[in-house]
Amino acid sequence: MIDQQASLPSEPPEKTRIVILISGSGSNMTAIADEISRGSMDAEVSAVICNVPEAAGIQKARDRDLETQVIDHRNFTSREEFDLNLMRAIDDYSPDLIVLAGFMRILTPDFVRRYEGRMLNIHPSLLPAYQGLHTHQRALDAGDRKHGVTVHFVTEILDDGPNVIQAVVPVLDGDDATSLQKRVQLQEHIIYPIAVKWFVEGRLTMVGNTALMDGQPLPVTGVQLES
Ligand code: GAR
Repeated sequence: MIDQQASLPSEPPEKTRIVILISGSGSNMTAIADEISRGSMDAEVSAVICNVPEAAGIQKARDRDLETQVIDHRNFTSREEFDLNLMRAIDDYSPDLIVLAGFMRILTPDFVRRYEGRMLNIHPSLLPAYQGLHTHQRALDAGDRKHGVTVHFVTEILDDGPNVIQAVVPVLDGDDATSLQKRVQLQEHIIYPIAVKWFVEGRLTMVGNTALMDGQPLPVTGVQLES
């Protein structure tokens, strides 16, 4: 007997839908979008959403024919109201993954809980060191010989949540915050697409407050790359 089901043409597998949130120049967004368009992972950028109307990253997204939305946080009277509208906009795309790529907003607990386990952030330090702002200057002021950048899952505590991957960047004699930031950013553009790819492939998950790779807990640092 002919198996009718088996003879039907099969649907192509659904791509992982990604919404990227930005506030600034969008260099991490472009690194991820360009890696996806090279075909190295089964994913699509469903939308790039920005909270700063004049951010340079918006045009970079348009140049790549990505759908963009601007939701200016200054049009809302409270953090809660802004986050609620942002959630509505995000949910219209039914994303599997939310990527914070220089999205400079403190998120409400409701927002974080909604996307827990499927929201990644990049932060320019070797977390848990230097949460918050001015990370490069603070590393220099402390006399650190090693600095770097971390991709982590987002939890309710700012710049916290389990680490996925870190790039360690040596601090060189004569470095200032600008030179150090430039070298760190080069590494950002390498490690963020890697982390997104792991998620898309189903290798990277978060269970409780732990990041797992292929079902095994990652070290507290996440996977560490030395540059
Ligand atoms: C990046 O350097 C990222 O590490 C930092 O913002 C920059 C955004 O650059 N993120 C944070 O400080 C988050 N706490 P980009 O817009 O060119 O990707």
